[in-house]
Amino acid sequence: MIRYLTSGESHGQALVGILEGLPAGVEISSEYINHQLWRRQQGYGRGGRMRIESDKVEILSGVRFGRSLGSPIALIVRNKDWTNWTQKMSVEGTGSGIEKISTPRPGHADLAGAVKYGFDDLRNVIDRASARETAMRVACCSIVRKFLETFGIFIGSHVLSIGPAELRNRSTVDIVIKRLMKASCGAYKITEQADKSQVRMLEKRISEKAVVAIKGAKKKGDSLGGIFEIIVTGLPIGLGSYVEYDRKLDGQLAQAIVSVHAVKGVEIGDAFANAKLYGSQVHDEILKGGGNNVVRPTNRAGGLEGGVTNGEMLVLRAAMKPISTLAKPLSSVDLKTMRVVPSRYERSDVCAVPACSVIAEAVVAPVLANAFLEKFGGDSVAEIRRRCKKGAK
Ligand SMILES: Cc1cc2nc3c(=O)[nH]c(=O)nc-3n(C[C@H](O)[C@H](O)[C@H](O)COP(=O)(O)O)c2cc1C
Repeated sequence: MIRYLTSGESHGQALVGILEGLPAGVEISSEYINHQLWRRQQGYGRGGRMRIESDKVEILSGVRFGRSLGSPIALIVRNKDWTNWTQKMSVEGTGSGIEKISTPRPGHADLAGAVKYGFDDLRNVIDRASARETAMRVACCSIVRKFLETFGIFIGSHVLSIGPAELRNRSTVDIVIKRLMKASCGAYKITEQADKSQVRMLEKRISEKAVVAIKGAKKKGDSLGGIFEIIVTGLPIGLGSYVEYDRKLDGQLAQAIVSVHAVKGVEIGDAFANAKLYGSQVHDEILKGGGNNVVRPTNRAGGLEGGVTNGEMLVLRAAMKPISTLAKPLSSVDLKTMRVVPSRYERSDVCAVPACSVIAEAVVAPVLANAFLEKFGGDSVAEIRRRCKKGAK
């Protein structure tokens, strides 16, 4: 099974990752990974760091002549800002003379993390809890994404709302999605189209509203969150299982997405809208198609029934809370003096919903790849291809 681990502090030397369990023969290039890293850094509303960092991956092992060897793949993304942090984040020494941070920021892991690990310097929490870690997640998961693409499975996303700028009537966006879905790499086309917008939205009018809303929040020293949609096309029927709770693909996907920083909610298909309707208005009828095929005229279930893919497009939505660090700070308590003080402000994004959607695209890849490997598994792309063909008969 595919698994990966990341290590690295936000202002440390580098982020490193190890991806294990990927079959041999997957085409891998740093160019492909770097493109995904670049996408993670885009979006209107990002803070100063995005101007410092232009993430580039180095592939250290597990790949030869552009293809995976089946062995663990080690990756590194160096932090360009490291030169300014060598003393504050030094691996050696005692830290004497380095200022300690003692005021936790609301909405961050600062307070809970310091109590949990017994730290008197919140920097120890801040630097690992930061969403900077997602750069390495995107790097590792991009390789898995490439594996899925080899088998015609494509992942995409687009943003539905940012603060008050919300797509209330989906009809025009659904027409765009339907048109783009005609391509064999359907979801990829959606993502390519969304990437053209600086807020990754498919409707121009709402994009413009979102930019205005972000500008307004910035002016007020505030921040914004939003909702995005992840779409996966090309999934065969039967990935995941209903037989045991931990094999249900819906649960596994929700875990992966909520593990992304600031994501606080996930829905599968039209879950929240469906909850307000009658069953007869919700469930997707099964009708007879040509030959021995059945067709589903609607996809309100979002491509999953009983925790198993049902051959329809996978549709997931996620809610990202507004960025926690505010230029106009909320109150906090200095844990050293126990006095109420304004929370700390450290260079920060005003809105990172577009970037978050790119990260979510990445993190679903290993979940889907593992379900795919469970069904068609093999040690190499060639072997899996043979098994897929057999399965199709
Ligand atoms: C792409 C991305 C960028 C983020 N940028 C910031 C940021 O600049 N400032 C900030 O306070 N939080 C930022 N966050 C959110 C925090 O990382 C997150 O809220 C925090 O680690 C607490 O975790 P939780 O919200 O999951 O509980 C970002 C999240 C993502 C996904």
